Amino acid sequence: MDTLLIDGSRPLRGAIPISGAKNASLPILMATIVAPGEHRLANVPELVDTSSMLSLLGRIGCPSLVGAQTRIDTTRVAFCEAPYDLVRKMRASVLALGPLLARCGEAHVSLPGGCAIGMRPIDQHLKALEALGCRFELEGGYVHGRVDQLRGAEFRFDVVSVTGTENVLMAAVVAEGTTVLENAAAEPEVEDLARFLNACGARIEGAGTSRIVVHGVSSLRASPTAHAILPDRIEAGTYLVAGVITRGDVRCENMRPNDVAPLLDVLRAAGARVECGPDWVSAGAEGRVNAVDVETAPHPGFPTDMQAQVMALLSFAKGTSRIKETIFENRFMHAAELLRLGAQISIEGNVATVTGQPQLSGATVMATDLRASASLVLAGLAAQGRTEVLRLYHLDRGYERLVEKLAAVGASVERGQEGRPRFAAPAVA
Ligand code: UD1
Repeated sequence: MDTLLIDGSRPLRGAIPISGAKNASLPILMATIVAPGEHRLANVPELVDTSSMLSLLGRIGCPSLVGAQTRIDTTRVAFCEAPYDLVRKMRASVLALGPLLARCGEAHVSLPGGCAIGMRPIDQHLKALEALGCRFELEGGYVHGRVDQLRGAEFRFDVVSVTGTENVLMAAVVAEGTTVLENAAAEPEVEDLARFLNACGARIEGAGTSRIVVHGVSSLRASPTAHAILPDRIEAGTYLVAGVITRGDVRCENMRPNDVAPLLDVLRAAGARVECGPDWVSAGAEGRVNAVDVETAPHPGFPTDMQAQVMALLSFAKGTSRIKETIFENRFMHAAELLRLGAQISIEGNVATVTGQPQLSGATVMATDLRASASLVLAGLAAQGRTEVLRLYHLDRGYERLVEKLAAVGASVERGQEGRPRFAAPAVA
């Protein structure tokens, strides 16, 4: 299995181009099902998750071609199933539910099950779709959904759910009448999905706020113009933290500064240097940052997907920081691995107390999810000596050309192989 070998303690300096957002690409790829025809999408990142989504589209009967633009033909849909072998690899396959119900009146989607960062139920997806007239049965590990006619309804989410909001949005666009979603997710990725659907003929208002109004239309069709996926704010945020944690200066380009505002507030409060232009942000530091308290929240709060990376940064801060995770239970698994590098972190419930250290030292570490892996890479970039991050496939799910991008700003990083000895015998042995 591939690993990442990092020789740390080098300041990173330079520019990194930001890729299209994984979490916008996944729902938009599924949304093509609702609008029959030939779609063109620009800025779809080449990631394991996006190729899994294209495989799912292929299984449904919608072929695709990856190139400078990704082309997907949804003229015909042959199957209305998201099978277990794909859903278990990528939880976001549950995004097939709304589009298949909208297109076929039927959907059979494997239950995602638990994952490394908690239970992650889909009750809100089902409740919202039931409000539009769908009926569900759970059998054999699958959700079987059916609907004769989708009808607009008013629905208030009990908890803010990003993919829950996206799933119901993709069905509500072709429902009869108007749908009003309250306590909806306001994430930029939901807004990008709405922009894509509107370009296909939908009438969605208020996406990007917690109240979304959808005026149903009888059908959608593929837009003749290509939709460009918005830049990935979590990828950008991760590289900005890399600039600060290594006491260098990293400039992220082709991005939307506003989307990372909650992170920039934290970086500034910690004493980092932050500058913004119309489509770029740079961040760096001269020495150790100051401790700062962070609490995750739905957008526009501090994103849970940046919590692990900021914990790595605060492990080097002057003083003690508190990090409160309010979105997912069980999302502190990176803490135990950071301890292996010498970090001082204690966890009580959903609060991590991080006592910053002047220096950490490299070690072999392993993470069980994507953002946790990113936090270990960041810690390794700043730690003294060599860090080996096992299970690189997590990073391949969400960071396009990670090794190349980091190397381009001066990091000493390379892919390795798990189990290969790291210490060669001296020549005389
Ligand atoms: C999405 C993102 C993920 C991010 C998360 C929170 C994608 C593909 N993934 O995941 O990167 O970390 O948003 O910003 O966009 N919940 C329920 N019932 C439901 C749905 C969710 O109780 O039916 C709970 C979850 O357990 C969690 C919270 O709501 O505690 C937020 O989850 P949600 O926003 O749904 O996360 P995802 O959409 O899966």
